[in-house]
Amino acid sequence: MKKLGVNIDHVATVREARKTVEPDPVYAAVLAELAGADGITVHLREDRRHIKDRDVRLLKQFIKTKLNLEMAATDEMVGIATEVKPYSSTIVPERREEVTTEGGLDVVGSYERIKDVVSSLKSAGIVVSLFVDPDLEQIEASRRAGADYIEIHTGRYCEAFGGEKEKEELEAIRRAAFFASSIGLGVNAGHGLNYKNIIPVLEIPQIEEFNIGHSIVSRAVFVGLYEAVREMVLLIRGKA
Ligand code: PXP
Repeated sequence: MKKLGVNIDHVATVREARKTVEPDPVYAAVLAELAGADGITVHLREDRRHIKDRDVRLLKQFIKTKLNLEMAATDEMVGIATEVKPYSSTIVPERREEVTTEGGLDVVGSYERIKDVVSSLKSAGIVVSLFVDPDLEQIEASRRAGADYIEIHTGRYCEAFGGEKEKEELEAIRRAAFFASSIGLGVNAGHGLNYKNIIPVLEIPQIEEFNIGHSIVSRAVFVGLYEAVREMVLLIRGKA
């Protein structure tokens, strides 16, 4: 059965718009779990623009599902992860000026660094995923670097959705998922997915879990977080 990890970064974005204490991402995590989420994802960015260290520590204590910590491959983040011990860590590229994660990790180009980070995290008992574009060379390097999972960056497909390149981008994800699974990697997917563009991606059998944030938090503004998560859970489980 396919799973949903809810990314709650943008609950913290609203909090940080006023640098206050609400809305609290810990409350959001509890509601998401009550609505059926299989996991909670947060990205602790170097600039702490939304999620703070305090959130990660409290989430680890509070949640009953799995905490997935998205992080850059830096010594600081490895230190925090090996201390807090989330269920899993997803290594993402990070540039200070970007609005959101813009492209997959260059595992080929930063191979030695990524391999060291994967090894440190795995030694702490953390499941490690690498966020990569649907590129077979990057996926093969991810396996060599010791990753347990890849998370396929679905951003290009989502941008192409409804246009001429949609099929081509969907095929790239399908090929990447098949290849990753055939060399022993677990496969997750995320970035830019919403209630419509996820539907064709649900047909790809190798994808185990979807990490979705912005579209769920956006819908939550109108229908409430419980309802927004519930609708996505039902879509993913094939019952909507
Ligand atoms: N997966 C990864 C690795 C991400 O960096 C993000 C964005 O933080 C997401 C999934 C979720 O993307 P979105 O907010 O567009 O659903």
